[in-house]
Amino acid sequence: MEFRRIGDVEVSAIGLGGMPMSIEGRPDEERSVRTIHAALDAGVNLIDTADAYHLYANDVGHNETLIARALASYGGDTSGVVVATKGGHLRPGDGSWTLDGSPEYLKEACEASLKRLGVEAIGLYQFHRPDPRTPYEDSVGAIRDLLDAGKIRMAGISNANPQQIRLSQEILGGRLVSVQNQFSPAYRFSEPELELCDELGIAFLPWSPLGGIAQAGDLGSRFAPFAEVAAAHGVSPQRVCLAWMLAKSPVVIPIPGASRPASIQDSVAAVDLELTPEELTLLSR
Ligand SMILES: NC(=O)c1ccc[n+]([C@@H]2O[C@H](COP(=O)([O-])OP(=O)(O)OC[C@H]3O[C@@H](n4cnc5c(N)ncnc54)[C@H](OP(=O)(O)O)[C@@H]3O)[C@@H](O)[C@H]2O)c1
Repeated sequence: MEFRRIGDVEVSAIGLGGMPMSIEGRPDEERSVRTIHAALDAGVNLIDTADAYHLYANDVGHNETLIARALASYGGDTSGVVVATKGGHLRPGDGSWTLDGSPEYLKEACEASLKRLGVEAIGLYQFHRPDPRTPYEDSVGAIRDLLDAGKIRMAGISNANPQQIRLSQEILGGRLVSVQNQFSPAYRFSEPELELCDELGIAFLPWSPLGGIAQAGDLGSRFAPFAEVAAAHGVSPQRVCLAWMLAKSPVVIPIPGASRPASIQDSVAAVDLELTPEELTLLSR
């Protein structure tokens, strides 16, 4: 496994995204636990989740609870595993995603996540998405308060633009360690945020790196260069995609989702796939 840094913590260069195990189309718990254990076996020590990764109004935090159970039942040492969760998004149970970025709500949500994860402090807590009804500085101010209170070990933001990244860094007194934005062959608009993170030395976690749950399987048919490079190396287009991201900057730490052991095993192998400068140019077009 190759390691990268979030703050002063070393994490696997590929993390596991937990969302497919808890939202629409989720598998049974047994398969999910096998998937999380397969990730740990492969050397993954970063698992991304959120309190909003659930389906029904009455199963808030499904994914956090699942991860806590999988860590508890794992045979090996899990003390170095960073569980990165988020607050600020809600799912009322009708399939929609709503927002609450108020400081009061974020502090309550963090307490609930702490309980579900069964920890004294959350490894990495990320403000999930700006809420237009709450001034951004108030939301990030709540994250700063959680950090100061020792409820969270590290602070991150998600779905942020360059201005919000700089503002968060200021509000957090230089303690912003990660930015999680959408980034994939299908969605390349986060290049400016990626470049800013590279400049500031902040981890950049591409979300839906393979194009999202519904489209990840078709990556090769939708993006011919990825299929072409994959064929040349005898690997999957998904693995090529993750290797391409890793090559962009040492701050990049993709978090591909998985609900099957084989998916995360294939994704993790991206750390060993070296692409030539010509291939990287082709993929970046
Ligand atoms: N911050 C945010 O607003 C936000 C938004 C969306 C997602 N996220 C985070 O980002 C993570 C990743 O995004 P995502 O899950 O939406 O999409 P994704 O990572 O682009 O795609 C996930 C799907 O890819 C498949 N897959 C994974 N590795 C593969 C491989 N090597 N070969 C073929 N298929 C593979 C998986 O299939 P199987 O299910 O069959 O294993 C999985 O369902 C999420 O899990 C979540 O933690 C954050």
